[in-house]
Amino acid sequence: MHLRRALVLGLAGLVAAQSGTPDLITALQSQNSSLSLLIGINTTGLSSQLSQLSNVTLLAPSNTAITKILNSPMAGELSQPGILQLALSYHILNGTYYASNFTNNTPMFIPTHLTNSSFSLVTGSQRVEILAQNGNVTAYSALRLPSNFVTTNVNFTGGTIHIIDSLLTVPTNVSYTLRASNLTAAVGAVQAAGLNTTLDTTRNLTIFAPSNDAFNAVGSIFNNISMQTLAQGLEYHVYEGLGYSSTLTNTTVKTLSGGSLNITVINGTVFANNAKVTIADILVRNGVVHVIDQVLNPNATGSNPQLSASTTTPAWTSASAGTAGVPFTSGIAAPSTTVPAASTSATSTKSNPAMAVKTGAVGAAALFGGAAVMMNL
Ligand SMILES: *[C@@H]1O[C@H](CO)[C@@H](O)[C@H](O)[C@H]1NC(C)=O
Ligand SMILES: *[C@@H]1O[C@H](CO)[C@@H](O)[C@H](O)[C@H]1NC(C)=O
Ligand SMILES: *[C@@H]1O[C@H](CO)[C@@H](O)[C@H](O)[C@H]1NC(C)=O
Ligand SMILES: *[C@@H]1O[C@H](CO)[C@@H](O)[C@H](O)[C@H]1NC(C)=O
Ligand SMILES: *[C@@H]1O[C@H](CO)[C@@H](O)[C@H](O)[C@H]1NC(C)=O
Ligand SMILES: *[C@@H]1O[C@H](CO)[C@@H](O)[C@H](O)[C@H]1NC(C)=O
Ligand SMILES: *[C@@H]1O[C@H](CO)[C@@H](O)[C@H](O)[C@H]1NC(C)=O
Ligand SMILES: *[C@@H]1O[C@H](CO)[C@@H](O)[C@H](O)[C@H]1NC(C)=O
Ligand SMILES: *[C@@H]1O[C@H](CO)[C@@H](O)[C@H](O)[C@H]1NC(C)=O
Ligand SMILES: *[C@@H]1O[C@H](CO)[C@@H](O)[C@H](O)[C@H]1NC(C)=O
Ligand SMILES: *[C@@H]1O[C@H](CO)[C@@H](O)[C@H](O)[C@H]1NC(C)=O
Ligand SMILES: *[C@@H]1O[C@H](CO)[C@@H](O)[C@H](O)[C@H]1NC(C)=O
Repeated sequence: MHLRRALVLGLAGLVAAQSGTPDLITALQSQNSSLSLLIGINTTGLSSQLSQLSNVTLLAPSNTAITKILNSPMAGELSQPGILQLALSYHILNGTYYASNFTNNTPMFIPTHLTNSSFSLVTGSQRVEILAQNGNVTAYSALRLPSNFVTTNVNFTGGTIHIIDSLLTVPTNVSYTLRASNLTAAVGAVQAAGLNTTLDTTRNLTIFAPSNDAFNAVGSIFNNISMQTLAQGLEYHVYEGLGYSSTLTNTTVKTLSGGSLNITVINGTVFANNAKVTIADILVRNGVVHVIDQVLNPNATGSNPQLSASTTTPAWTSASAGTAGVPFTSGIAAPSTTVPAASTSATSTKSNPAMAVKTGAVGAAALFGGAAVMMNL
């Protein structure tokens, strides 16, 4: 295996040691029992990147994390030129965040060194979510796959290192992410409306994606709907701006359709008009997707969201369930494995967005959420 060929080419001798705080390679070697595979990676292509690190937080994949990838279909893809560099750039956070810097129960969305536009169409650089809870810290990357911090605050001259037990998964496009999250009605609707290219390529989007149940509940409104009306309806679910859950406040945003959408935050739970966000913060290359429990109605007024879903006013009072199965799902392939974001039963709040722990079925194989598809690897 390429990655196992232990040669400390790039990492060694990168940064001149200063008194007191060790340089990067010395700091990594101090954790050799859990980082020997990372240290052994042929980092020739990475040395210029790593040698310049300063004021960063490195999320260093443990031997366990790297072994998972080596035993997955991603192993071959990792040996492609540039791929490892791209993947590792997502593991470098801008700024020095010690474990104590992660606010308990409030997810933080921290910019990384991932700026490659195939995977970052957000202002500055792609973000990763970090959540501290009850003394544990977890990073959530694409598809809400979790990486747990197993050792924290290994300091070096350029910042600090936290060791994680799974590699971060690089966010990819909206179409792929919706499909992998089993939001097949949303995928089909977006395609039927001819909006897939817009949603996949427009920078800095926040997308409220109704669940399949939500589409099904109002199936009758899609009977004989025109492509234009459908597109406008879907555009009402999207706005330009980076609305990660913990950065949202009560506000009104202008959606891509031109209509105004009310965002309300009650005790950490986010609402779009009356629709409740059931899974927050699924990262995509051009922003963030939140799953909601209703299809939004661009003509609705007077939103009055309630924490208890049973009292939420439906946006479409005269709609009824479709009679021909979940709308728009015909011909849309569902994912074969459940990814964490596919869970639609969990309720997301600031303090409990971690439905991701449900299953890590695709975790080891998902170094890039969809990169293999996008890059024809
Ligand atoms: C390390 O990578 C460089 C450039 O990618 C390559 O030329 C070299 O053969 C590799 N060395 C090993 C031991 O794989
Ligand atoms: C370190 O990075 C953080 C985040 O980018 C920034 O806010 C801070 O000013 C930087 N500190 C120094 C000393 O450069
Ligand atoms: C981390 O916390 C320390 C102490 O409160 C603070 O000075 C520093 O700015 C914080 N770092 C970041 C990146 O927020
Ligand atoms: C994070 O750091 C990278 C590399 O220095 C930089 O290109 C990017 O703009 C930074 N992101 C933000 C949001 O400052
Ligand atoms: C913290 O993480 C450990 C190891 O993953 C786990 O066993 C423990 O239950 C977690 N604790 C809390 C409070 O979540
Ligand atoms: C790393 O530095 C931080 C901030 O100075 C400190 O709190 C922490 O204890 C240091 N880590 C170790 C292992 O010494
Ligand atoms: C958008 O969807 C259409 C219809 O399914 C498809 O032909 C097209 O390739 C898709 N475009 C992209 C960029 O995926
Ligand atoms: C979106 O990204 C572009 C390019 O980085 C930036 O100019 C623009 O201000 C961003 N828009 C929002 C709403 O953040
Ligand atoms: C937002 O408005 C709701 C009432 O609609 C209120 O309960 C809530 O506290 C407000 N949230 C914030 C963060 O002000
Ligand atoms: C608000 O959230 C906290 C935990 O995050 C919970 O203990 C509390 O009961 C919630 N309050 C309401 C009104 O739901
Ligand atoms: C949004 O909030 C404003 C002010 O509270 C209200 O007048 C309007 O009807 C609301 N819009 C929707 C779609 O609920
Ligand atoms: C996807 O959702 C459908 C319901 O819409 C469900 O029947 C199916 O089991 C889900 N698939 C996965 C892999 O979770």
